[in-house]
Amino acid sequence: MPTFAFHTYGCQMNVRESEAAARALLDAGHTQAPSEEEADIVIVNTCSVRGKAEDKALGKLGLLCASKRERPGRVVGVMGCMAQRLGEELFKRLPRLDFAIGTRCAERVAPAVEAALQGRSTLALRGPHEQPDAPSGHVVEGFSAFVTILLGCNRRCTYCIVPDVRGDEWSRPAREVLAEVRALAEQGVREVTLLGQSIMNYGLRTPAFDESDPPSPGGYTIPFPRLLEAVAAIPGIERIRFTSGHPAGVNDELIRLFREEPKLCRHLHLPVQSGSDAVLSRMRRGYTREGYLSAVARLREAVPDLALTTDVIVGFPGETEEDFQATRTLMEEAHFDNAFIFKYSPRPGTVSATWEDDVSDEEKARRNQILLEDQDARGTQINEALVGTVQTVLAEGPSLRNKTRWSGRTSGNKIVVFTPPEGLRPGDTLSLTITRAAPQTLYAD
Ligand code: SAH
Ligand code: SF4
Ligand code: F3S
Repeated sequence: MPTFAFHTYGCQMNVRESEAAARALLDAGHTQAPSEEEADIVIVNTCSVRGKAEDKALGKLGLLCASKRERPGRVVGVMGCMAQRLGEELFKRLPRLDFAIGTRCAERVAPAVEAALQGRSTLALRGPHEQPDAPSGHVVEGFSAFVTILLGCNRRCTYCIVPDVRGDEWSRPAREVLAEVRALAEQGVREVTLLGQSIMNYGLRTPAFDESDPPSPGGYTIPFPRLLEAVAAIPGIERIRFTSGHPAGVNDELIRLFREEPKLCRHLHLPVQSGSDAVLSRMRRGYTREGYLSAVARLREAVPDLALTTDVIVGFPGETEEDFQATRTLMEEAHFDNAFIFKYSPRPGTVSATWEDDVSDEEKARRNQILLEDQDARGTQINEALVGTVQTVLAEGPSLRNKTRWSGRTSGNKIVVFTPPEGLRPGDTLSLTITRAAPQTLYAD
């Protein structure tokens, strides 16, 4: 049987959908190739969130399609957000392409591979309002797994392509989510990360296409904090993470869970995007600087050891030096453990793409660099304060840099490098005293 490889760009949603498609290929009798170069079937899972992400995927696909000249039997396919956005056009740009499968239909990948092996091409896209298919199959390799619980997004931030490429917000039935987690736990999974673009909206909307389902506990839709509790009650599950958050979802119930549910990891990814009210309003984020900082203050007060991470965009249309300084001071006030900083990239079809992209590339790069340096100093300071503390670490396996050492994660999602005791297995937990800190890593020597 031909071997396959996935090349995945973008967020965890994509990692999850690649995994579900891989499961289906394995079930159909294909095997994972030892490397992408050797693979008979290569599938590129794509991201559209910034122009650069698409350029990279198009470059990769160009090379792969060119490789078919020497290897005519090779199958090259594309899936994910860029496939959804460009659809048919991809076949014009890449005449040797075998298939393009959009988002929310990972189950179409395996049939598209079979068709390609018989010389037929496939284009499969799901409309933005159609009921999506949640990725369900897993390739369990370790103790940790992603579970998608909320698909699509209805927020429509003015800069963002995600609602266009991932369609309407749709909460998966709770019983389906819980059955999936139970099955994973039975296969040895101890840590689950629940995924959704604006995940705290889980359960708030009953999808029109399944209104007959009763909204009972364990049934169709239950509020997000209830779902977290139900996942925590599954035997074998030791750690629960979720991403991404939004300040609107930081309610008393969630805060109570962070405080009282030991399985819920002390980490929240809460993208802020900007610290300026003028910019936040033009982004249509649905909160002000004060509203965001008050959510942070409530969290910090109730859960002092909570690690907070964020996403920030620099150079949004009309962002002045003053707006930028407001982002700087907000980041200092919120005292983020880590931050992902992005240069604004206008996306076709979004509201902000109709506004002038008036911050120059050099200025975006300068603002980006300043925030990175601030964050590095802040991260170092936060991590140094952890030296001498005892952390519960879930062991992951040998460290990438030094195979005699292992790495694992704290509840706050920080990487800890340590010398493994005899007989340690991935997924085991251990208590370690932190002896040294770097901006992104802790050491227990
Ligand atoms: N659903 C998540 C974000 C998904 S996109 C959330 O809202 O929390 C991941 C990050 O990409 C966003 O948080 C944002 O910081 C960045 N991003 C989105 N669109 C962008 C654009 N047009 N230009 C630059 N960065 C962008
Ligand atoms: Fe995009 Fe906003 Fe939805 Fe996040 S919440 S995916 S930034 S539209
Ligand atoms: Fe990118 Fe699609 Fe995720 S656009 S960030 S892969 S939802």
